[in-house]
Amino acid sequence: MTRPYFFTWQAQSGAETVALEGGEGAWMQVAGRRVLDLGALVYQANAGHGHRRIVDAVKAQADRLCLTMPSADYPAKGALAEALLAKAPPGFSKVFFCLGGSEANENALKIARMHTGRYKTLSRYRSYHGATMGAVSLTGDWRRGEVAPGIPGVVHVLDLDDGVEGTQIPRVLELEGDVGAVFLEPVVGANGVLIPPPGYFEQVRRACDRHGALLVLDEVLTGFGRTGRFFALEHFGITPDLITVGKALTAGYGVLGAVLVHERVARTFDERVLACGLTNYAHPLGVAAALEALRVYEEERLVERAAELAPTLTELCEELVAELPAAQSYRSIGLLAAIDLDLGEAALGRLRELLWAHDVFAHVKGSRQLRRGGGALVVSPPLCITASELREGFRRLKAALRDAATSVP
Ligand SMILES: Cc1ncc(COP(=O)(O)O)c(C=O)c1O
Repeated sequence: MTRPYFFTWQAQSGAETVALEGGEGAWMQVAGRRVLDLGALVYQANAGHGHRRIVDAVKAQADRLCLTMPSADYPAKGALAEALLAKAPPGFSKVFFCLGGSEANENALKIARMHTGRYKTLSRYRSYHGATMGAVSLTGDWRRGEVAPGIPGVVHVLDLDDGVEGTQIPRVLELEGDVGAVFLEPVVGANGVLIPPPGYFEQVRRACDRHGALLVLDEVLTGFGRTGRFFALEHFGITPDLITVGKALTAGYGVLGAVLVHERVARTFDERVLACGLTNYAHPLGVAAALEALRVYEEERLVERAAELAPTLTELCEELVAELPAAQSYRSIGLLAAIDLDLGEAALGRLRELLWAHDVFAHVKGSRQLRRGGGALVVSPPLCITASELREGFRRLKAALRDAATSVP
């Protein structure tokens, strides 16, 4: 299909496209068909499709105030910052607003550099932190290689990966000596749902403190209930220095990202210039979508629902792995799961088509991204999904997987 705009992360000829028309709850409408969304689009539609309250809140804000400038002071901006800080661990005192997850990491990089005076950063090979130059340099998967050499000073570690015991972060911090910040997804998301073992984050936090590095947690994918807690960091009981958010901050209904900053870092900028900025800083439409999304998460108990449905998701993954030889193992937390597959690249391509044919959507990851053969399915439904919809979704996944495993020699 030829279009006068680019499709992302793929060659343009033969690009995979989705004729998205709308939707309701856990269902999206694609080319006139109802498709069960087990991906929350690109992990942002945590409140589901067609959420009337959030749409109306954006409309009302557009009528009230639709333009802004970075120094504008309007009530919703302060209210959102306060609401976000109230969800962060104690000691977080400021929010920097931006337009999405990549930009949140980009600005966190700059804040960490200015605060520590150090340019080196550490992140994992199995990670995705965004597409802008700094964020893609932090990223460990194939996307970084496409635009190498990236920004200077990024050190990657093999951590939480197949066959690696414990964490190498303390040792690498010691060897490098002057790392300014460690960027980690609390639970690795798009690179295969890797869940740190008990004690992991205590060790990392201690090592950061010992070597004077800030700990930055990228909650862009895991934040806002995805793992059954508001922030995934709550599973591990640690306090980072910066938290980056995007995606489900607005439940997908607005364009907004943010960096939440601990007081010990925020104080640096009381007298020193914060050299970060953008024209549409805290744009009212994004802010209105986020404020209403936060109310919806609370009033519809969506974070609690993710925790309550977690055992059902685990059970469904378990069944899939027991029944289908192509499904080898799984990891699951809250409403986020990865199922490791034993399929070649051709069968994975066929699986993408077969999911649509079975009116279900989930994220199919190839070996290029995961740096392991066989691929994986990442499941992350809207948090408003019901147990019976989740079961129906897995019936469809199973049928598509069975067909994919037998369709390619
Ligand atoms: C963990 C993580 N960080 C950052 C990003 C980048 O967010 P965005 O695409 O909204 O810029 C993503 C997007 O998938 C992500 O999963």
